[in-house]
Amino acid sequence: MRIVLVGFGVVGRSFAELILEEGPKLDRHYGLRPRLVGIVDSGGAAEDQEGLDIAKALKSKQGKGSLEDIGPEAYAKGRKALDAIKNIDCEVVVECTPTDLKLGEPGLSHVKAALMRGRHVVCTNKGPLAIAMPALLELAQHNSVLLKFSGTVGGGTPVLDFAKRCLEGSTIRSISGILNGTSNFVLSQMTSKGIEMKDALAEAQKLGYAEADPTYDIGGFDTACKLVITSNYVLGTAYSIHDVDIQGIQDLSIGDLEKAKAKGKVVKLIGRVDGKAKVSTEMIDIAHPLNVSGTFNAISFDTYPAGEITLVGKGAGGRETASSILRDLIEIRRSFAR
Ligand SMILES: NC(=O)c1ccc[n+]([C@@H]2O[C@H](COP(=O)([O-])OP(=O)(O)OC[C@H]3O[C@@H](n4cnc5c(N)ncnc54)[C@H](OP(=O)(O)O)[C@@H]3O)[C@@H](O)[C@H]2O)c1
Repeated sequence: MRIVLVGFGVVGRSFAELILEEGPKLDRHYGLRPRLVGIVDSGGAAEDQEGLDIAKALKSKQGKGSLEDIGPEAYAKGRKALDAIKNIDCEVVVECTPTDLKLGEPGLSHVKAALMRGRHVVCTNKGPLAIAMPALLELAQHNSVLLKFSGTVGGGTPVLDFAKRCLEGSTIRSISGILNGTSNFVLSQMTSKGIEMKDALAEAQKLGYAEADPTYDIGGFDTACKLVITSNYVLGTAYSIHDVDIQGIQDLSIGDLEKAKAKGKVVKLIGRVDGKAKVSTEMIDIAHPLNVSGTFNAISFDTYPAGEITLVGKGAGGRETASSILRDLIEIRRSFAR
């Protein structure tokens, strides 16, 4: 399977490392032999139809911050992702560039170009899906290729395929979840240590859980993206992020959390779909299965007739998200045999 990897940051590099580590097992168990024929970052692209030397690529990125040390025969400084996607022969494009929620770019153009070129796509970038998921799925279908995005929700926790496959035959009446580890960490710290949001946020930033500008997480936008993707995939809705009523945790004070505590409850940032899509803070019982602490994610499916089913796992992390890319590639590999 020839792959062009677009984005060589935390997730892209973890994915490359996993190919190195898991290569023999993937071949033995799934007949999957991933070959990176292209790697692109913001500075340029490397190409080799025989397969790029992954160890060399990782070393170059670590040392130089670029792919330059792969060598002049493979590396082209300034070569853009769109050019690589269109012109490097491959079966799959793996898209791991940063999430943008205004226009979904540059990921949206990358995904569109890949699908139109007849490439299967694995996307960990939430932007294109939050903005244009129904259109992208249609484009994939029209071009007879798969668009997979397991890593966009739950990191390595198989939220989407669990709901789609394992709950077959059940009616899913609603979905509710803690889908953003950063805001959950902040709320957990405020509750357990009795500290205000700015101090909890500073701690999250120190530990690398929060960006310098935490609006995307704290404002509820990341949760909204994941809600849109989950709802569209599992319930067949056609939402974009603009359809979600979004309220983050930015206005919560320690007093609000203490009031909840006095009633045997905790305050959580919850994404919920039950006829409409909403992100807001809710008070839940301490014993509720969604009451996970720290950076964990949890998602509950209210099903008929099986009742409430909750999945808990690490919602992010390079390695975790890379494992979901592998799952998607295995699925694409299986489709070759059909
Ligand atoms: N990290 C996680 O735990 C996690 C979990 C789930 C989903 N995701 C999503 O997965 C995606 C990747 O996350 P990440 O943590 O790996 O991000 P990251 O570390 O910031 O890496 C982003 C990569 O994209 C490259 N890039 C930026 N603009 C580009 C362009 N126009 N053309 C080609 N490459 C470009 C960057 O190049 P340079 O290296 O040259 O800067 C970098 O290599 C994001 O959308 C994120 O939301 C991340």
